[in-house]
This record gives sequence, structure tokens and C-alpha cells, in this order.
Amino acid sequence: MKTIIYRPSEVLKAALKLQQGELISFPTETVYGLGADATNEVAVKKVYSAKGRPSDNPLIVHVSAIEEVEQYVVEVSEVASKLMETFWPGPLTLIFKVKEQAFAPTATAGLDSVAMRMPDNALTLQLIRETGKPLVGPSANTSGKPSPTTAEHVFHDLKGKIAGVLDDGETGVGLESTVLDVTDPARPTILRPGATTKEALEKIIGTVYVDRHLISSDEVPKAPGMKYKHYSPNEAVVIVDGNHEMWQKAIETYQKQGEKVGLLAEQAIVDHFQKNVSATYSLGEDKSVKDAARLLYSGLRYFEKTTATVILAQAYAENGLGEAYMNRLKKAAGNHFFE
Ligand code: TXA
Ligand code: MG
Repeated sequence: MKTIIYRPSEVLKAALKLQQGELISFPTETVYGLGADATNEVAVKKVYSAKGRPSDNPLIVHVSAIEEVEQYVVEVSEVASKLMETFWPGPLTLIFKVKEQAFAPTATAGLDSVAMRMPDNALTLQLIRETGKPLVGPSANTSGKPSPTTAEHVFHDLKGKIAGVLDDGETGVGLESTVLDVTDPARPTILRPGATTKEALEKIIGTVYVDRHLISSDEVPKAPGMKYKHYSPNEAVVIVDGNHEMWQKAIETYQKQGEKVGLLAEQAIVDHFQKNVSATYSLGEDKSVKDAARLLYSGLRYFEKTTATVILAQAYAENGLGEAYMNRLKKAAGNHFFE
């Protein structure tokens, strides 16, 4: 299959492919998604095979307006309603109890709930409207690899397997949306941290719970996706949480073991150690976790093109957006910190 890169002006052509049951990758504010008509079982099955995704891991359904949700879910609670009014379009996915036969059975992996979100990207909202159907949209990477933040990343992973990619440049947030379970409105629970932070959610709806079990371990999935290894490049990833002395020690330790070191860190660290290592990728401005979140996945992918065998990656404080950043980095590193 020839995979076409569609320019923003070609959104109608991309929508036509989706109507025909083909797969189109679409841009969002978080990462690129792999789109298919969420009501078309054959199309949704193709998403799993193109990604190599285990079929017990359900997909997020993307809509173009808040009002669309009520036709698919059993109930829109007041809590859910407030959240959608405040954060949609944006990086917040909500889990609802789903109406029977609202979507292709494979989209929800046979669960009685569904994940829904309205992405903050004008082109993709237009794509959904033109298609006339809600779209499933897992991140458009090969399962297990870092999520794509550019059309080139999508093309690299899925070329020949999908009909096209709607190219709208680099995504802004860089990490997948926050997943919040609101099936019990009295106990809203974060299943996956993202750019819509716990603090921001609590300002609107009060106490929000975090399912640490899902986020930090590999056991019993409620968000089934949590049990799989994620976001991993081919190289080993080791997290460095410390000052220059610590970085120096980490670099020397791995070089003594015959490894070629790649540095994934803020600009100041890159500048300081550039001459001593095999490759570097800047996570942007010093102390900016926003930059680091935006650049993490492209950085993890970058080292594939270098001689680096170990990536030393910078830790950030685990609050606000740093919670999501560290969640993804720990998964990429298999929780391996340099000590
Ligand atoms: O930012 C994002 O959310 C991106 C963009 C493309 O929209 N999409 C994305 O999709 O990250 P995906 O499929 O890679 O992640 C969906 C997550 C998985 O962890 C999955 O297990 C969870 O949402 N999920 C989906 N349906 C669920 C459900 N009914 N109950 C619990 N978790 C669910
Ligand atoms: Mg994903």
C-alpha cells in the first residue's frame, strides 16, 4: 500500500479514505493518532494489526464536539460535563459507561466502558466532521515504540501499512492525553497522567484520585494499556537525577563498560558535556518541563540514527506536567535510575 502524506489543504481527501474504511493518521495537540471509523469493525481491526497492538487494549474515540458524547454513553454526569466544558478541546480523555453497540466491538476491546476525547487541533476536528463518524485514534506508532510527534515519525513506523498521514507539523504537548475514569463520578480517577494535571482537574471538580497501581506497575490492568512496555527506543535508557558531578559519573561509568553514550537533557547539560559523549539531543530551555515533554519522544527516537548504545535521560520534578513526563520516561527506562 502506498502511504500518502496529505497537506492541510487535502483534508477532504483524507476524510474520504476514512469513509472507505482506510486508516489515516491525524495530528492532535498531544501526539499523532492512527485514525479509523470507530463504528467500522473491519477498519478498527486494521488499526490493531498496523500497530501490532494487543487486541485487549481498547482505543480512544475522538469526537469533534462535546454534544456528540451523549449519543454514545450511558450517562453524562455533572462532573463529566464540567470537565468537558473546561478542558475540551484539549488533552483530557474521559472514560464513560458505553451504550451497547455504539462502536465497533474491537474499539472498546469488549469492555462496557469507552474512552473519549476531543482533540485540540482544528484540522483534525474538521477531519472528524467531514468523515461524519467518530474516529478511534491510538498513538500512530508501532506498539511499544515512542509515540509520534511528527508526520515523519508516523511515516517511519507505518509506511506501507496505512493509507495516509495528515501532516500538520510538530505536535505541541508531546505526551499523550490525561486519561480520567469518570464512570463513578464520586471517585474520578487518573489512569494515565498527561498535560491536564491533577491540580488543574481538582480546581474544577474537587478531589481527584490517582491509580498509582496502574501507573507504576505491570499488573492487573484497568487501563489495559498500562500493562505493556511502552515508549521504548532500541537503546537502553537510564534516568539521571542530579547535578553535573552525577552526570559526569554516569557518563564515565557507561563509557568504561564500552557503551556509547547519548545525552537527552536540557540545553545547559548538553552544552557542558557535548564534547565527552557520542550524541546529544536537547530537551530545550533549562528547567522547562514543558519543553522536555514536547521533545521527549522525538529525542528518544533520534538516537536510533546515532551510534549511541545507552541514552542518559534527565529527570524532572514529579509534579504538574513533570508527573506525565516522568511517567513516560520511567516506562522507557524500565524504571532504571543511575545511582
Ligand atoms: O493523546 C492521546 O490520548 C493520543 C492521541 C492520538 O489522541 N491517543 C492515545 O491513544 O494515546 P492510546 O490508544 O495510545 O492510549 C489509550 C489509553 C490506553 O492506555 C488504553 O488502555 C486506555 O487509554 N483506555 C482506552 N479505553 C479504556 C477504557 N475503556 N478503560 C480504561 N482505559 C482505557
Ligand atoms: Mg500509545
